[in-house]
Amino acid sequence: MLTIDLKGKHALVAGVADDKGYGFAIAKALAEAGARVSVGTWPPTWNIFKMLLNRGKLDASRRLADGELLEFDHIYPLDAAFDTMAEVPEEIKTNKRYKDVGDYTLEGLAKRLQKDGGDTPLDIVVHSLANGPEVQKPLLETSRSGYLAAVNVSAYSLVAMVRRLSPLMAPGGNFLALSYLAGQRVIPGYGGGMSSAKAALESDVRVLAHEAGRRHQVRINCISAGPLASRAASAIGSIDRMVAYVSRNAPLGDALSAAEVGQAAAFLCSPLASGITGTVVYVDKGFHAMGMPRDQSLL
Ligand SMILES: NC(=O)c1ccc[n+]([C@@H]2O[C@H](COP(=O)([O-])OP(=O)(O)OC[C@H]3O[C@@H](n4cnc5c(N)ncnc54)[C@H](O)[C@@H]3O)[C@@H](O)[C@H]2O)c1
Repeated sequence: MLTIDLKGKHALVAGVADDKGYGFAIAKALAEAGARVSVGTWPPTWNIFKMLLNRGKLDASRRLADGELLEFDHIYPLDAAFDTMAEVPEEIKTNKRYKDVGDYTLEGLAKRLQKDGGDTPLDIVVHSLANGPEVQKPLLETSRSGYLAAVNVSAYSLVAMVRRLSPLMAPGGNFLALSYLAGQRVIPGYGGGMSSAKAALESDVRVLAHEAGRRHQVRINCISAGPLASRAASAIGSIDRMVAYVSRNAPLGDALSAAEVGQAAAFLCSPLASGITGTVVYVDKGFHAMGMPRDQSLL
């Protein structure tokens, strides 16, 4: 029998601060497959996430198939916009949500991982984070700084992560990023340079798969997921309409669950996918394959 077996593996899922998004669902699926899981959490959400965990508010979502609760090995503070503390602007360094959490840059993350787990502490890294401060603005109205902020956090951070964390990976390690159809097709409302960031992310997955594959023997893939009403997606403003539109028009009409993305992620991060790298896998009930709405009322 073929099973997804991640026993003995350590996964870092970057971009988890509640139980509503894809990062949490992927963390849970990796744990169901036997992996130890740590998460990277954005400092502005770090305290609230720890409070939700400590108060048992996430217990129902943390329940695994065997009845145990999903436990995180470590909850690392991470602001993926920064490589080193020298780059962090003073107003962020002194911000009350940042000043007491230690080094939250990618360099700090790499150091903490090695302190906690030795020279090669990682087998799997999931990049499940994005931020576009002007996401509600059409691209045409997006400022230069808003566009660059979206691309910095949502795409360049993968390049920086692969560069810093590949050397920390045990042989056969792999990376997974999360993209969205807006990187390939026009999705009105997904603005602020976020469509550009997703297009860059998908291209970078291919190029990094080649470069880091040859240099570090790691795999790098991407899931292009269908819309989900996560906390981040709620900032878009039209996420409920996007979810409903996909349900009405995708080849598979039932609503996409975060767990389905989690399962696909566990497969891609497992030895069963050892021949797959540099790929964008759509987990969207087939919506990307449609060229025309099937709901006649939309014509
Ligand atoms: N929800 C959707 O409809 C959808 C569809 C396709 C792809 N995705 C992608 O899935 C990934 C996860 O998003 P989600 O929708 O599940 O929402 P989410 O809110 O669960 O995850 C986004 C996370 O990014 C974190 N983050 C923001 N800025 C950060 C920074 N500078 N450094 C570190 N972390 C930061 C947030 O705190 C949050 O935890 C993103 O890449 C997103 O673009 C989402």
